[in-house]
Amino acid sequence: MYICPNCKTTLKKINNTYKCLNNHSFDIAKEGYVNLLLNQPKAGDNKQMIKSRNQFLHKGYFDNLVIEVIKTIDDLTLDNPCILDVGCADGYYPGIISKTYPNIIGMDISKDAIKLAAKTYKKIDFFVASGKDIPIKNNSINIILNIFSPHFLDEFLRILKPNGYIIKITPNENHLLELKQVIYDDVYLTKEKLFEDSSLKLINSNDLNYKVTLDNEDILNLITMTPYFYKTNDADLLKLEKLNRLNTTLDFKIAIYKKNILLSK
Ligand SMILES: C[S@@+](CC[C@H](N)C(=O)[O-])C[C@H]1O[C@@H](n2cnc3c(N)ncnc32)[C@H](O)[C@@H]1O
Ligand SMILES: [Zn+2]
Repeated sequence: MYICPNCKTTLKKINNTYKCLNNHSFDIAKEGYVNLLLNQPKAGDNKQMIKSRNQFLHKGYFDNLVIEVIKTIDDLTLDNPCILDVGCADGYYPGIISKTYPNIIGMDISKDAIKLAAKTYKKIDFFVASGKDIPIKNNSINIILNIFSPHFLDEFLRILKPNGYIIKITPNENHLLELKQVIYDDVYLTKEKLFEDSSLKLINSNDLNYKVTLDNEDILNLITMTPYFYKTNDADLLKLEKLNRLNTTLDFKIAIYKKNILLSK
């Protein structure tokens, strides 16, 4: 299923190494993952962001979302689907989903994220790569999960089987509204666009929203795991450091797309 990031020929697993026909080789790290990313040692979320995400997710605040994702996969009624989570970070979602759907793989451009994922979920295959250049054969994946992570439509369409699916999770306008209200005087509500591509058909879109009450540690983890951390000045961050409790909205969009075999490239 893997291809060489250098020459795109099939990678074969020989002992603890993946090797291609042209003898490019990629060692499996002691944690069990393989790094198939060329020349980008410091890409993606850094160690601090990953640690905060890991601590936050393990409190279970996003578990209702994971349950919805599993129900969405159930509704597709596929037999043992091959699922790829693009931008899986610390592997929290694949870790839960694998209990129902064991044929799941996780990838992320952040080596720190994948190292932690592979250490935590030993039965799942994880690899480091960019979504821009996914080292996976054409037409080999049933479902791509893309949860709060960047998307790369051409690559997604290439690796999806005919009739494959993309399940894309994005934040809705009210996601973390109360958190933003603490930091910013004027809260800018962002609306994510749905994919518009003739090779994809939107087959369903559901919203999920609920409120959670966070303590100070959760609030700081939440801000650290998001890009707001780098966009927010010290004075505004201090407001969060002083906050002991926050009731905030989680607001997600779950969109399901099907690869349109007649029109796809
Ligand atoms: C906001 S986090 C979401 C992580 C996880 N899906 C979750 O919801 O907890 C975005 C993730 O995308 C990864 N990422 C960023 N650029 C990427 C790329 N080009 N290819 C693959 N992953 C990427 C980051 O390293 C990070 O782990
Ligand atoms: Zn090669």
